[in-house]
Amino acid sequence: KKVVLAYSGGLDTSIILKWLEIEYGCEVVTFTADLGQGEELEPARKKAELLGVKPENIHIEDLREEFVRDFVFPMFRANAQYEGLYLLGTSIARPLISKRLVELAAEHDADAVAHGATGKGNDQVRFELAAYALNPEIKVIAPWREWDLSSRTRLLEFAEAHQIPIAKDKRGEAPFSVDANLLHTSSEGKVLEDPAQPAPDYVYQRTVNPEDAPDTPEFIEITYEKGDPVALDGNPLTPAEMLTALNELGGKHGIGRLDLVEGRFVGMKSRGIYETPGGTIMLEAHRGIESITLDRGAAHLKDELMPKYAELIYNGFWFSPEREMLQALIDKSQEHVTGTVRLKLYKGMVQTVGRWSDHSLYSEEHVTFEDDAGAYDQKDAAGFIKINALRLKLLAARDRRVK
Ligand code: ARG
Ligand code: SIN
Repeated sequence: KKVVLAYSGGLDTSIILKWLEIEYGCEVVTFTADLGQGEELEPARKKAELLGVKPENIHIEDLREEFVRDFVFPMFRANAQYEGLYLLGTSIARPLISKRLVELAAEHDADAVAHGATGKGNDQVRFELAAYALNPEIKVIAPWREWDLSSRTRLLEFAEAHQIPIAKDKRGEAPFSVDANLLHTSSEGKVLEDPAQPAPDYVYQRTVNPEDAPDTPEFIEITYEKGDPVALDGNPLTPAEMLTALNELGGKHGIGRLDLVEGRFVGMKSRGIYETPGGTIMLEAHRGIESITLDRGAAHLKDELMPKYAELIYNGFWFSPEREMLQALIDKSQEHVTGTVRLKLYKGMVQTVGRWSDHSLYSEEHVTFEDDAGAYDQKDAAGFIKINALRLKLLAARDRRVK
């Protein structure tokens, strides 16, 4: 019996590792991914070795390019925001982790995968829906839903009893729970649990306070090709390089902070502090380039579908026919979303200040306040309004009559 565990190298997943060996009597394969969380991964290898995992059972992978290219960028083509604000930084990373867990399970002939998400959150749902969608036979073990190590004291006792090293700073309880990757950091729980209270400054990790950001604005240009950003100030960048560079710029200018109370899929509301500096710039830039390259009908339709698409990702349905159908529609809409956007970064704010494209639909000839040399006949608008007004007139007349 073998199980593949999503392993961070931290205390909690180390406890899970031991617990799986004891409780299920199984051999544990560990999987640790670099998704751009900004942590060294070699310590996770050392830790797994120390806990007795065979070298051939330890997997450490740099998934940053795949994460941004195949998950983040497709999602940003939709301008996806959950409940109007959340850029889905954690939600979009889970399907990729599950995909690798399931693939590794096949390679190792393991029949189960395991994760460290609790029974209260969204992440358990995302990990598991993705795993079942990719392998209907897979078993998923979620120790947090099963064990009786419900208090910090019990966890530490278990760690001590099984020679799991505890970092000095892990003895006390962490002040809040963090999930990080190249797209965002999320902080939830503990000191953040009262949504009436402002988040303490130390919660923020990758953005400066906008008030402390530079007093002079910075201007950048992002070039898009078919809906994806491909160059920054004229320099071609890979997807992960692009997001890394935009995170740097956004962080410096205090861009992309969000304090949100959101509705979890499992029913309760939760409060989170998010930092999505590069993603916030990308959203503005993408809307900027779409504004000149997308037809109104196409633009409005994809905007109508966006909340549905965002909810599917939030709820863990990345690998579902309905998400794929919407993706096909969104990708189709991006055929001409090619061109360049100029943006101003200043004290927590990102604004489009210029956009241009060979694929532009913007016609100065038509829109000009000056003489348009017959491009548009204003007289045509009279009939257009008359016909559109017919229903409204009949309604108004009826209202007068029956009042
Ligand atoms: N509330 C956010 C979401 O559901 C963030 C979850 C963070 N997860 C974590 N394990 N800390 O996408
Ligand atoms: C968790 O419960 O594991 C984190 C929060 C969430 O998944 O929503």
